[in-house]
Amino acid sequence: MDRIRIVGGSPLNGIIPISGAKNAALPLMIASLLTPETLTLENVPRLADVNQLNRILGNHGVDYRLEGKRVGDSPYAGQTIHLDAKTIVDTTAPYELVSRMRASFWVIAPLLARMGEAKVSLPGGCAIGTRPVDLLLMVLEKLGANIEIEGGYVLADAKKGLVGGEIDFAKVTVGGTHTALMAASLAKGHTLIKNAACEPEVKDLADCLVKMGAKISGAGTSTIEIEGVTSLHGARHDVLPDRIEAGTYACAVAMTGGDVLLAGARADLLPLALDVLRQTGAQIDETAQGLRVSRKGGKIRPVDVTTAPFPGFPTDLQAQFMALMSGADGTSRITETIFENRFMHVQELARLGARIKLEGDVAIVEGRPKLKGAPVMATDLRASVSLVIAALAAEGETIVHRVYHLDRGFEQLEEKLQACGATVERLREPA
Ligand code: UD1
Repeated sequence: MDRIRIVGGSPLNGIIPISGAKNAALPLMIASLLTPETLTLENVPRLADVNQLNRILGNHGVDYRLEGKRVGDSPYAGQTIHLDAKTIVDTTAPYELVSRMRASFWVIAPLLARMGEAKVSLPGGCAIGTRPVDLLLMVLEKLGANIEIEGGYVLADAKKGLVGGEIDFAKVTVGGTHTALMAASLAKGHTLIKNAACEPEVKDLADCLVKMGAKISGAGTSTIEIEGVTSLHGARHDVLPDRIEAGTYACAVAMTGGDVLLAGARADLLPLALDVLRQTGAQIDETAQGLRVSRKGGKIRPVDVTTAPFPGFPTDLQAQFMALMSGADGTSRITETIFENRFMHVQELARLGARIKLEGDVAIVEGRPKLKGAPVMATDLRASVSLVIAALAAEGETIVHRVYHLDRGFEQLEEKLQACGATVERLREPA
């Protein structure tokens, strides 16, 4: 398995282009199942999860075409892909394909809405908690589907078509809201979603569905209304920039010091996180090209954070922020409220010298003036990149093992960091 070698201690200076958001690209790609016409997505990131989802969609009969590079394209320019689900040939999403990525479970909604049936394996994904699908199944039942679980598969049936209904989420769920949007777009009649997720990726999916002919209002707020239509058509949509990638590199610069332009990053996608980073001592300016993040000397100030649904502090930045706080001048408390087991990075950060104590859903981080490089193991997507951040600031060499987690969600990570002066290289496993 590939590893990443990092020699820390240098500030980051330069430009990091921010890719299209993984968490927007995945539901957008899945939405292609809703129409027999072509859905064209631009600014799709080059990631292992995107490739894996292509395999899953291909199994349902979706033709996938990647547009070639154009003269003058930057190596970081996003991909344009055409997805064509003219005929759905198979409504089963098998365990071998779905178990690797939780988001692939969401195919259940468009398959059911368009074909009246779906058989989808219960999902896998990052080991960050139990991650049930009860709320997603509740959505489908509220819209008239009959659901059974058999042999690790969810069997969903709505032979006469889905019908609109009222969905009131007991807990804010991004995947649940995506599921509701896709299923209700082709359901008969009116659907009301209460306590919907307000994440920008939900709004991005809704915007694309509207371009495809769906009737949706209120996406981006906690109340969404949908008037079902009988069919959707093709469309072209640009994937929004990745706020988690931008926040990750912002944490890195706040830790190592330096001055980096996060090209294409948008402040409105990271409302609280940018405030928090400013409180730690980083300077963040909005420019026409993106967000400019710098820290010119001075100590990193400790700041307490609690993760929350958008517009709160994203759980997907919790690990990266913990890395930053490991180098702060004092003690901070980081409370995780979304996933109960999302502290796998704590023991790995400790190998680099971080002092972190866990008390239930709170991590108490006692900042250290210097971390030291060590061999560490990537455990999940965001946890892995927190180790990269800590390693960039640590003295000496760090080897990050199991980097396939990083490849799931961070496009050209080594290249982007190298361009800003970091000593980062991939040690490839001989084939
Ligand atoms: C998405 C993101 C993930 C992010 C998370 C929260 C993608 C591909 N993934 O994951 O990166 O960390 O949102 O912002 O977009 N829950 C239930 N029952 C359900 C569904 C969820 O109890 O049926 C719980 C979860 O266990 C969790 C909470 O609801 O505690 C939020 O999860 P959810 O928003 O659904 O996460 P995902 O959509 O899986």
